[in-house]
Amino acid sequence: MQTALIMQVLDVAERAAIAAAAYNGRGDKYTADQVATEAMRAAFNAIPFAGRIVIGEGERDEAPMLFIGEQVGAAWADPEHIAQAEFFDIAVDPLEGTNLCAANKPNALTNIAIAPEGALLHAPDTYMWKIAAGAAAAATNLLHIDKPAAENIRIVAEALGKPVEEVNVCILLRDRHEALIADVYASGARVRLIDDGDVFGAIAAAVPGTGIDLYLGAGGAPEGVLAATGLLAIGGFFMGKLDFTLDKDGVQKRARAEATANIDIDAPLPMESLVQSNDVAFIATGVTNGEMLAGVQFDASGSVTTSSVVMNAADSSVRFIHNTRRGASGVIRF
Ligand code: FBP
Repeated sequence: MQTALIMQVLDVAERAAIAAAAYNGRGDKYTADQVATEAMRAAFNAIPFAGRIVIGEGERDEAPMLFIGEQVGAAWADPEHIAQAEFFDIAVDPLEGTNLCAANKPNALTNIAIAPEGALLHAPDTYMWKIAAGAAAAATNLLHIDKPAAENIRIVAEALGKPVEEVNVCILLRDRHEALIADVYASGARVRLIDDGDVFGAIAAAVPGTGIDLYLGAGGAPEGVLAATGLLAIGGFFMGKLDFTLDKDGVQKRARAEATANIDIDAPLPMESLVQSNDVAFIATGVTNGEMLAGVQFDASGSVTTSSVVMNAADSSVRFIHNTRRGASGVIRF
């Protein structure tokens, strides 16, 4: 994948984050999500490429924009271009952590994954148990979603060369995680509870300086594909397992997935089955301030600074990018 295209997609994530950040701490998660989605869609449609949303705001009948199957990119409107176009799968969460943004809590992000057509799993909109960690633990080849938490924690501790007592395990604060949290405490490790945002939690487990060494727990399956893309790009570890029993509509969703999915929906899903290409990229921009990315900073001059991470499997790189845009006054202050 061309780095130039990835940088254009970075611009898409930045614009969505700027739109959402106008609503940081305003108690209105719906508008924050809506403006992020609108900004993201408009920015995608300004790029001369041919993308298709495989993970987005929902099915066509429930989401007006960035719905599953929607074509994005200016190439679709140009018959000459489309005849020779390369097609891309796009997974998005225009605002991950809508509640975090509404309450101005840490780590609301805009997230995008891009991959060659057919590479990203069309994950059912249900729950997925997840385990994620960084490159050192990945290199052991020992982590597994079916292993007890204490065993995975011991593997991470050894890989990082620190005692189990110093391993930080990030977990979403949910009733379904009561037993998991008790198991982690019993192992001796520390727990970092988050209110929302498990793409952040999973990615942060592989990013030094976040204070997170391992991510465990169940969250959205679509978010699992986004996180897996980033972790695959940087040589981290991710494994998931779908769980329809946590979902109030799980019976119907399971039946639909049985009929349509081309995977074993009961099996552990290594990141290579969620993301079937090495030519992928994951991009996140901070909306609110957090351990991995600063939130959007609005300066009185009108300039706006964003903080993003670009994880690119194609050139095996991780870029942390602070970008300041000149405001209407023409002043640039950063
Ligand atoms: P939103 O982006 O819709 O606010 O969801 C955030 C999130 O916390 C995800 O990061 C996570 O995967 C999912 O919700 C967990 O779902 P639930 O809130 O149902 O436990």
